[in-house]
Amino acid sequence: LTKGPRARRIAPAALAALTLTALTACTGGGVDGTPGAAGVRDPFFPKLGNGGYDVTHYGLTLGYDPENRHLTGTADITARATKKLSAFNLDLKGLEVKEVTVEGKEARFNRAGDELTVRPRDDLDRGETFRATVRYSGTPQTVTDADGAKEGWLKGEEGALAVGEPAGSMAWFPSNNHPSDKAAYDIKITVPKGLKAISNGELTHETTTNGRTTFAWHNAEPMATYLATVAIGKYDTKKSMTAKSDSGIPVFTAIDRTLPDGKYKKTEKVLSKIPEIMDWAELNFGTYPFSSTGAIVDDRVNLGYALETQTKPVFPSSEVNTSTLVHELAHQWFGNSVTPKTWQDMWLNEGLASYAEWLWEEDNGEDSAQDIFDALYEQGDDEDLWAFPPARQPDAASISDDPVYDRGAMVIHKIRETVGDDTFYDIIQGWTKTYRHANANTKDFTTYVEKHAGDDEAREELKKVWADWLYGDGKPDNP
Ligand code: ARG
Ligand code: ZN
Repeated sequence: LTKGPRARRIAPAALAALTLTALTACTGGGVDGTPGAAGVRDPFFPKLGNGGYDVTHYGLTLGYDPENRHLTGTADITARATKKLSAFNLDLKGLEVKEVTVEGKEARFNRAGDELTVRPRDDLDRGETFRATVRYSGTPQTVTDADGAKEGWLKGEEGALAVGEPAGSMAWFPSNNHPSDKAAYDIKITVPKGLKAISNGELTHETTTNGRTTFAWHNAEPMATYLATVAIGKYDTKKSMTAKSDSGIPVFTAIDRTLPDGKYKKTEKVLSKIPEIMDWAELNFGTYPFSSTGAIVDDRVNLGYALETQTKPVFPSSEVNTSTLVHELAHQWFGNSVTPKTWQDMWLNEGLASYAEWLWEEDNGEDSAQDIFDALYEQGDDEDLWAFPPARQPDAASISDDPVYDRGAMVIHKIRETVGDDTFYDIIQGWTKTYRHANANTKDFTTYVEKHAGDDEAREELKKVWADWLYGDGKPDNP
């Protein structure tokens, strides 16, 4: 226990009581709080996330003016302290912090790199639920990833698009920016009248006053920061249901109105498959974990990839095709509901979402999963596919590389081959059910699969699959 400056202000009588408390219970009110850690030691992004608290809800109130790219924000963060805290950090990149309050009282704060350190007037007790409010503004930044991809806040014609895998959400709101801390969200955005602001979850409110329109989006289910999105611009929006009966899921789509005719029509056609894909996915992966689904298609920001932003994946029109739609919708189960504990577990997201594409093809009379596996196995020893094992990426720049996607899917196929179709689908559905809205790592996955593999022979086989396909260097000797 570190003695902070606060101890010196404690009266002798209180100090005696403190010693007693400290002797009996280390978590008692009398012991001094210590600062929370500035990162959660992710193997690839050690400074992302923060220790000492767990966020339960983000209430974001944002205003954006596309003309001068100015964002004003208030982040109301409800969190629970996991230890007695004298200070805690939030992750925030750029922007100017105007004021921070904790439990309604003004708090001291300072900035260093992407860390915002908050010092509440009073220590926060272990287990205490507290509310921190950060008022900020400025021009949000675009972030370039180690692999060259752009994320964070992307500026577009009369608007913007925010995407955050793995780190970019801190370019537009302060957070505990790591997938291990998921929370519910309410995101309210005000934009000039004539523009729309789309975000995750369901639209609960829309009002226009004084030439500005406010859109309020609600997310009751937990979401990782990297899956939060905001899309501001001119969109054609459409609301429907996956099924005509009460059992349907609301589908909300937004298509960039500036798309040229051909791309627009193709986009509409592909997105019309959402209900069919959702029904198929529920049958194969289990009950859909969120309250709505949909998609956002936007070509104004040169996003070179699609992203599985929660409930509404985003796509540039170049990525709008059935396979990628299946992939991003499958991520809602694999990644968004069952979320990796660290960025090293990324293959659990991408391997399973890629395997969903294979299953879709197989179930729709195209190549079988075995055909796809065999074609990949044909690739020569020097190809990127064998550059590293899916669960042991060498660095942050490789978390979105081929081995994570394709070789990750090959691991899933090997499991299916080992246990047979019936057990395989039981495992997939049991996995999404057991870890629904939670976090899991590679070990959790292999343990779960082994436990439900059926017999010892299958378990022995699986151990070889892990050794050769999941953790082993180079191209495995046998397909
Ligand atoms: N997770 C996204 C998908 O598979 C792709 C993200 C690409 N990001 C990157 N930095 N390369 O749908
Ligand atoms: Zn993916």
